[in-house]
Amino acid sequence: MNQYINDNKDRFVNELLDMLRIPSVSADPKFKADVMRNAEFLKERLIEAGADNVELVETAGNPVVYGEKMVDPSLPTVLVYGHYDVQPADPYELWTSPPFEPVIKDGKIYARGACDDKGQMYMHVKAFETMVKTGTLACNVRFMIEGEEEVGSVNLGAFVREHKDRLTGDVILISDTGMLANDTPSITTGLRGLSYLEVEVTGPNRDLHSGLYGGAVANPINILCQMIASLHDENNRITIPGFYDNVDELSQEERAEMARAPFDLDKYKKALDLGDVHGEEGYVTMERNSIRPTLDVNGIWGGYTGEGAKTVIPSKAYAKISMRLVPHQTSEEITEKFKKHFESIAPKSVKVVVKPHHGGEPVVTPTDSPAYQAASMAYEETFGVKPIPVRSGGSIPIVAMFKSELGLDSVLMGFGLDSDAIHSPNESYGLFNYMKGIETIPQFYKYFAQLKK
Ligand code: BES
Ligand code: MN
Ligand code: MN
Repeated sequence: MNQYINDNKDRFVNELLDMLRIPSVSADPKFKADVMRNAEFLKERLIEAGADNVELVETAGNPVVYGEKMVDPSLPTVLVYGHYDVQPADPYELWTSPPFEPVIKDGKIYARGACDDKGQMYMHVKAFETMVKTGTLACNVRFMIEGEEEVGSVNLGAFVREHKDRLTGDVILISDTGMLANDTPSITTGLRGLSYLEVEVTGPNRDLHSGLYGGAVANPINILCQMIASLHDENNRITIPGFYDNVDELSQEERAEMARAPFDLDKYKKALDLGDVHGEEGYVTMERNSIRPTLDVNGIWGGYTGEGAKTVIPSKAYAKISMRLVPHQTSEEITEKFKKHFESIAPKSVKVVVKPHHGGEPVVTPTDSPAYQAASMAYEETFGVKPIPVRSGGSIPIVAMFKSELGLDSVLMGFGLDSDAIHSPNESYGLFNYMKGIETIPQFYKYFAQLKK
């Protein structure tokens, strides 16, 4: 098996580079044709790798690439999930090489989607090819690779419900997360949920001269800033009434267990050029970014932002706000609480509209399951050390839905690193990580088949 991987390494890398040249940005309709091209590309690669019944399954949005290999009904079935869409590459000027012209530098592939999720998803296609071509495929497989993860997987729920009879299996396998370090592998055992919304604050019915009206009329940007600032208290706790009502508090034992994962605060600050970290009082950084809920402004705009100065009190101000959720908060509950609170704190001098966007539910995955055990043994085999279970702060909304709709747990075998800069300019993915993933995935199949016997 490793012989096959070694012999085909260059081709495995080149195929990924080909896919990275396709700008499959799901957020921007301008790239719709490229998104379709990427789906087609993947379909062809799955067929070549040896999958059967490969098709692009229509949804109300971008198609899901489906393919399967049912070798033996008595073997367990692994459902592989991933996504071929990517985040927008903006701001382009901050990239040192163009985002859709992948280059290899210092052992890393630089391109939008290199890690999230094309590089990680394609490891599964190449691991599958390796197992098929070397006659070592130990489980049945079903691939479902979607094209709308980065815009909230809004049509995947319907896909899952409509194709329930086809999506039978024993576990969902996903590489769309990270690990602690190349010499400290980890398995992600939790994801945060998400409640995302946009707010619009309207002051006067038109932009006004800031000298003639300034001081006498509410400036919606000033008001919006005050309102946003009031959403955290002096301990950096969120002030929305009832926000923490359903938050699962970890026991001291669980927190002590978490604290055993290696973490270097100085390195963390250095990597981000931070004078200090910031967050909820009473919790350390690794807790703040995983087991605690948050509220962040993702973008804020209004008024004049062009060259030079324009003296104006704008009519409107806007912000995009996201809240990361933990068990047992729900996106519906939190969106509702936010809306009610935000409207209630608006002074009479402005009007406020809160528009909910997509949401997703938090999940924690079991560590005592055969699937987790198999993943753990797989990493141990290829990395030489046992992986550490770690809850992540990111979100993959479909994971909770797989549990509620299909009754299936997911195993999150991520190979990315924080330094891969996903969603940022100069996203990268290590060749080491790509190849290690291709090596580790077949070990998962092997152990999973053994443990499920
Ligand atoms: N792959 C990421 C999520 C992720 C990354 C989880 C690293 C854990 C570790 C995924 O593509 C993503 O970006 N999800 C979005 C949510 C989505 C609804 C836009 C996120 O977390 O912001
Ligand atoms: Mn992803
Ligand atoms: Mn992403």
